[in-house]
Amino acid sequence: MKKLLQSCLLLLMPLGVFASAGMELDSAGIDLTDKTSLENGAHLYVQYCLGCHSTKYIRYLNLADDFDIDEQEILNKVAPEGAGIYDKMLTAMNEHDAKKWFGTQPPDLSLIARSRGADWLYSYLKGFYADPKKPLGVNNAIFPDVGMPNPLWKLQGTQRPVYETVDGQEVITELELEENGTMSADEFDKSVNDIVNFLVYAGEPAQLKRESMGKYVLFFIFMFGVIAYLLKKEYWKDIH
Ligand code: HEC
Repeated sequence: MKKLLQSCLLLLMPLGVFASAGMELDSAGIDLTDKTSLENGAHLYVQYCLGCHSTKYIRYLNLADDFDIDEQEILNKVAPEGAGIYDKMLTAMNEHDAKKWFGTQPPDLSLIARSRGADWLYSYLKGFYADPKKPLGVNNAIFPDVGMPNPLWKLQGTQRPVYETVDGQEVITELELEENGTMSADEFDKSVNDIVNFLVYAGEPAQLKRESMGKYVLFFIFMFGVIAYLLKKEYWKDIH
């Protein structure tokens, strides 16, 4: 019994670590059937993230197929200028420059939604605040000391942290808007949500296919059931 309790406590420990970090994660509203959100997310991703991060398992053609959008529209509205429909979503930044500028290479984001989770990504992208002590002038409440500048600062504006002392430690409990960006808070939340929606899609484009396939499978099972029932009636009708 004691062993069992101990292992339960061990299992709960990571939760405790997150809980004591101060800022709670905001919930992202993920909807992989919302093609408008996915297209907008891909568009914002290309504008604000692709400069540094690749999503190397996705081609622009996949976006057209999976979002039911014309290939030409994807090329006009989403893909960077000069990209072809068969191109993968690769960043133009090379490893050498990335190391020189950021000290590390920005990771490929194909599977980031799976490793970090949608809520973490959503909160992280909203979690930047001004911190003059940092080389980039910003810090992040969800990923302290992160080596990434806030790519969305023009849209969001700048935030300042609100500190509280919890268990003798100063922690950030909230971020306040210090200077307005070009978007309202609601518009910004929606845009970040679209980017996260896109990243969740990127983690599993097959999910969309699986979901639409599911409908056909259910339809087939239903039709098969009807046929089986009719056959049974036909076979047994002379016996009774
Ligand atoms: C100017 C370059 C640059 C841009 C633009 C940029 N990033 Fe980053 N990003 C980085 C660097 C560098 C890191 C690594 C930071 C570190 O490890 O400290 C990083 C890290 C990350 C991480 C954390 C990965 C991990 O370790 O779990 C996520 C998530 C992320 N970026 C998402 C985005 C998204 C989404 C956008 C677009 C809205 C974006 N980034 C735009 C440079 C960039």
